[in-house]
Amino acid sequence: MVANTTGEGWSSRRAFVLAAVGSAVGLGNMWRFPAEAGANGGGAFVMFYLLCVLLIGLPVLLSEVLIGRHGQSNAPESVRRVAAESGKSTRWAFLADIGVLGAFLVLSFYCVVGGWVLYYIGVFLSDIFTSGLIGGAFEGRDPAEVEALLPNLFGNGALMLGLHVAFLAITLYFVARGVSGGIEWVATWLMPAFFILFVAITIYGSFTGGFEEAVSYLFTVNFSALTGPVMLAAVGQAFFSLSLGVAGMMTYGAYVGRDVNLAGTSGIIAGADSAVALLAGLCIFPIVFAAGLEANAGPGLMFQSLPRAFQDIPFGSVIGLLFFVMVFFAALTSSISLLEAPTAWFKDRFRMPRPIATGIVSGGALVLGGFAAWFWGQPVPVLSDIALFDGQDTFSILDTLTSRILMPVGAILTSLFVGWVASRRLIDSENGLSGGLHHFWLFLVRWACPLALIVILIVGIFPSIIGE
Ligand code: PFF
Repeated sequence: MVANTTGEGWSSRRAFVLAAVGSAVGLGNMWRFPAEAGANGGGAFVMFYLLCVLLIGLPVLLSEVLIGRHGQSNAPESVRRVAAESGKSTRWAFLADIGVLGAFLVLSFYCVVGGWVLYYIGVFLSDIFTSGLIGGAFEGRDPAEVEALLPNLFGNGALMLGLHVAFLAITLYFVARGVSGGIEWVATWLMPAFFILFVAITIYGSFTGGFEEAVSYLFTVNFSALTGPVMLAAVGQAFFSLSLGVAGMMTYGAYVGRDVNLAGTSGIIAGADSAVALLAGLCIFPIVFAAGLEANAGPGLMFQSLPRAFQDIPFGSVIGLLFFVMVFFAALTSSISLLEAPTAWFKDRFRMPRPIATGIVSGGALVLGGFAAWFWGQPVPVLSDIALFDGQDTFSILDTLTSRILMPVGAILTSLFVGWVASRRLIDSENGLSGGLHHFWLFLVRWACPLALIVILIVGIFPSIIGE
C-alpha cells in the first residue's frame, strides 16, 4: 500500500494510471472535442491540438504530477514543501490555491452537463420500451422533436437542477469513501468498462456508412483553416482534456509511490487521453454523417445530432443507451478528480474528516452549479457587462473564467515554478527523464510553455486581438 503523509494512497501504479486517465478522459473528450473539432473545421484543429498536447500539455502534466509526488500532500501544501526544500518562498503555494479554486468552479458546471448525460440515459432507457430493441430509436417521432429534447431540458430549471444534484451526489458518494476505497474503486471498474463500450460502439459506428467521410474530415489538414481562434480553441481544449492548471493532477500525484516513473506514466496518460479524443471523433462523426447531418453542430453535436442519428440505425435505442452510459462513466471519473482536489485541501487545512470536507465542497458546488442550471441562458447581471463575459449566463461565465484565465494562469505558474524556482536536484530526482529528453523537457518547461501560455492568456482575455 502506498501512502502519503495524510495516510492515503493508490494501491498500485496501475490504480494511479487508471485514475489519472479517468480524470483526463471525460466530457472534454466525448462532448467538447468533437464539438470543437466540428466547429473549427476538422483537421487543422485536430493537428494543432495534438501538437499542443505534446509540446505544452505533456510537460505541464509531468510538472504537476512531480510536485504532487514530491510534496505528498494536498496541492498547495505540496507546492509549499517543494518550495521550502528548494530554499524559496512558500508563497508559491498560491499557484495551487488558484488551481483548487479552478477545480471547484469546473466541478460546479461539469456536474450540470453530467446531469444532461443522466437525462439522456433515462430518455434512451424509456425509449427501449416504446421503440423496441431492434429498430431505430424514437420510432415514429419527428426528428425535430428529438432535437428539441435538449432545448426543452434547458427550459426546465427544476429538472436541470435535480439532474445536477443527482450527478453531484454520485460524485460525492465515491470521493467521501476515500482514495483507495472510493476513487480507485470507481476507476478500476468503470474505466475498463468505458473502454470496452467505447471500442464496441466505434466499431459499430464504422459500419454505418459515414466512416470514410469522418476520417477525411478529422485528418485532412487544411492549413488555411488554422486561424487564431482555431488555435486558441485547440490549446484550451488540450488543457481542459488533460485536467491541467486546476490542481487535479497534482492532487492525484500525491498518492503515487516513489517507485513509479513519472515521465513514462505521464506519457501514457496523455497518449490515452488523445487517443480517446480522436476515437470519440471516429465514433460520433460516422453516425452523424451517415444520417446526413452536419459536423458543426457545436455543443448540440452529442446531445442533439447524435440522438437524432440514432433514429436511423438498427438497435438505435440500445446503442444510444450504451453510448450515454459510457459517457457517464467517463464523466464520473473526471468529476471525482475535480471534487478530490478541493476536498484534499479542505480536509488537511481544517483538519476535518474526509466525508465532512467532501460534503462542504459539494455543498458549494451544489449552490454554484445550481445557479448555472436554474438560470440557464440568463445573462448574469453586472458580470455579463464585462467584455470577456459578454452577455453570458452563469454556466458560460464559469467556463470562460476557468478555461481562459484560471487554467492558463495555473499552468504558467506551474511551469515557471518547476523550470526556474524548484531545486534542480529535486526535479532531476523526481521526473524520471535522462539525457536529451530531460534537457528538451526542461527547455519546454522553462521557455516554451510559459511563453506560449502567456500569449494564450492575453489572447484569451482580449480575443479581439485575433479578431474573434
Ligand atoms: N479532463 C476532463 C475532461 O476532459 O472531461 C475535465 C477535467 C477533469 C478538467 C479534472 C480538470 C480536472 F482537474
